Amino acid sequence: MSATNKFLKKIKEHKESAKKEKFNGFLAQYLQLIEKDTVAPVLAHKRLYDGIVNYGIKTLDESDDRCSKIFDGDPVKVYDYFASEFFGMERSLEKVMRFLDSAAMRGEESRQVLLLLGPVGAGKSALVEHIKRALENLEAIYVLEGCPIQEEPLHLIPRSLREQFEELYNVRIEGDLCPVCRHRLLNEYDGDYTSFPITQLSFSIRGRKGVGVVPPMDPNTQDTSLLIGSEDISKLDLYPEDDPRVLSLNGAFNVGNRGIVEFVEVFKNEIEFLHTMITATQEKSVPSPGKQAMIYFDGVILAHCNEAEWNKFKAEHTNEAILDRIVRVNVPYCLEYEQEVKIYEKLIRLSDYDYHIAPHTLEVAAMFAVLSRLKFSNKADPLTKMKIYNGEEIIEKGLIRKIDIKDLREEAEEEGMTGISTRFIMKAIDAALADSTKDMITPISIRDSLIKQVKEQITNPDDKKTYLQFLQKTLHEEYLSILEKEITKAFVTAYSEQAESLFNNYLDHAEAFVNNTKLKDKVTSEEMEPDEKFLQSIEEQIGIKGSAKTNFRADITSYMFSKLRRGELIDWRSYGPLKEAIENKLVASVRDISRIVTKSKSRDNKQQKKFSSMVQTLITNYGYNEDSAEEVIKFASNNLWRDS
Ligand SMILES: Nc1ncnc2c1ncn2[C@@H]1O[C@H](COP(=O)(O)OP(=O)(O)O)[C@@H](O)[C@H]1O
Ligand SMILES: [Mg+2]
Repeated sequence: MSATNKFLKKIKEHKESAKKEKFNGFLAQYLQLIEKDTVAPVLAHKRLYDGIVNYGIKTLDESDDRCSKIFDGDPVKVYDYFASEFFGMERSLEKVMRFLDSAAMRGEESRQVLLLLGPVGAGKSALVEHIKRALENLEAIYVLEGCPIQEEPLHLIPRSLREQFEELYNVRIEGDLCPVCRHRLLNEYDGDYTSFPITQLSFSIRGRKGVGVVPPMDPNTQDTSLLIGSEDISKLDLYPEDDPRVLSLNGAFNVGNRGIVEFVEVFKNEIEFLHTMITATQEKSVPSPGKQAMIYFDGVILAHCNEAEWNKFKAEHTNEAILDRIVRVNVPYCLEYEQEVKIYEKLIRLSDYDYHIAPHTLEVAAMFAVLSRLKFSNKADPLTKMKIYNGEEIIEKGLIRKIDIKDLREEAEEEGMTGISTRFIMKAIDAALADSTKDMITPISIRDSLIKQVKEQITNPDDKKTYLQFLQKTLHEEYLSILEKEITKAFVTAYSEQAESLFNNYLDHAEAFVNNTKLKDKVTSEEMEPDEKFLQSIEEQIGIKGSAKTNFRADITSYMFSKLRRGELIDWRSYGPLKEAIENKLVASVRDISRIVTKSKSRDNKQQKKFSSMVQTLITNYGYNEDSAEEVIKFASNNLWRDS
């Protein structure tokens, strides 16, 4: 079968399945579906909440590394529906979901606007878009056929019967028929609500079905018809003025009924324009464009804006009525650089990219972004704070430095609401790529590109200075240290075996030292004293000198012993300070040869061989290609191992 025929067949199947599934009936059949639990006539918040939760929820608890380190052991709920697209914003997502959950239970939140507040590029629009898409993935809802606001069929049931209905079905009916359906009921069906046809309808963002969007309007074009529809002038001749048939109920609150109404950059609008929003929350109804009664509205109102607009809005005390109707959720920038990297990876995947990204490129960019977003602390320098926020252990003078992430957070309220945006970084990536002759980006080229962009685009002189300092000093040094370790790993054949053997030796000797015993030589079985020189050669790598060594050795021995007793495995990476010491020792052990070998001029044959094998390891094990390996090695030899 040709591709076209195959595809036409698919189209036919698709059309048929769409037709088959659609319900067409009347109140009697609809009631049966409700009784059998085939249909749950729920309100908008609950439908949306259930729809998202159905994808699954995980609770990150203490067993999870990110939870214990980054969320300080507080359990965090992670919603599968968001997890593959949104990174490092679990806290905000949890708040959004908490809002929907309470609103689903018809609490006060069901009469509130959810406002996402955050800096540009923090993912507010993307988040709202994703939430709207959750509606599209839901099963079709049941609606009155031909209703311009796709209303709930139970609205047909007259007030006088509702109490009995609620008792029998345990479902509460909220809201009354819209003027259009009401008119049709009286005129087309003679008031017989059991013969009003009921059908199904799927949510559609592009089709404006169950999803209404209000873009920011300039004052001159602001017109409430965008929100509540209008009277169709061409029909005014045909019908009397108060006839609902003249209504065009196509405003955002009409199309968004039973789903979502989104206010994009909400506070760019004039305040008058937002009154409908208040009415919709307070009264769960919106005005009708004509002289009709108010129209019942059931929907989730999502708004977003940035901080400047919010502050301006908040300052006006005449806006209190609206403020009272708002649940605000901050959507700050991501402050974990490893999560930030995932954002870039997502955005890069979305473009048609086919270029090489050298290891640590996105990491360096993400580190810069996070550094720019952090508030200054007296407890830790910016780089340290950045690492703590990423859940890393900070080693200082041979000890894991205890800084409570919670303290840092509390000290810096509303953090992540300023700084470099995701877009700024993406633009720098594009620029670095455009400048590259080899279709690649590297930590070196991205840093250059960021420096250029900061110089050109950051206007605030203090910010500019701080950002350049991060790029030219902090991250320059940090990257060199990452690179030196990586090149060492590529240089030392069987790196982890060597590290492991240093570790085992160290433990044996330290234990003998602590217990005041002797060791047995594995080969000759001869007894020997712990090798003080060897122990010190490791310890000095992390600045342990003099009497501190005794404590360090005792700590390590008891740490490892207690781990073993709990049945846990230990290896050279088990204890942060020792891991660092071992890495530094290995780095130091090849420093001389690194310096000589990476300089192309001075290589002899043997060194050339060693060099090629190192390059090969970088390519096969660490994700470089020929060009990027060459570039970083050149960078290392110019900056790390300058002949002194
Ligand atoms: N934490 C995040 N996780 C995933 N993607 C993100 C995150 N923050 C920003 N983005 C991405 O960055 C881009 C810009 O975000 P956008 O939603 O336009 O921001 P805003 O509306 O807040 O200005 C989007 O493509 C979005 O997917
Ligand atoms: Mg936006």
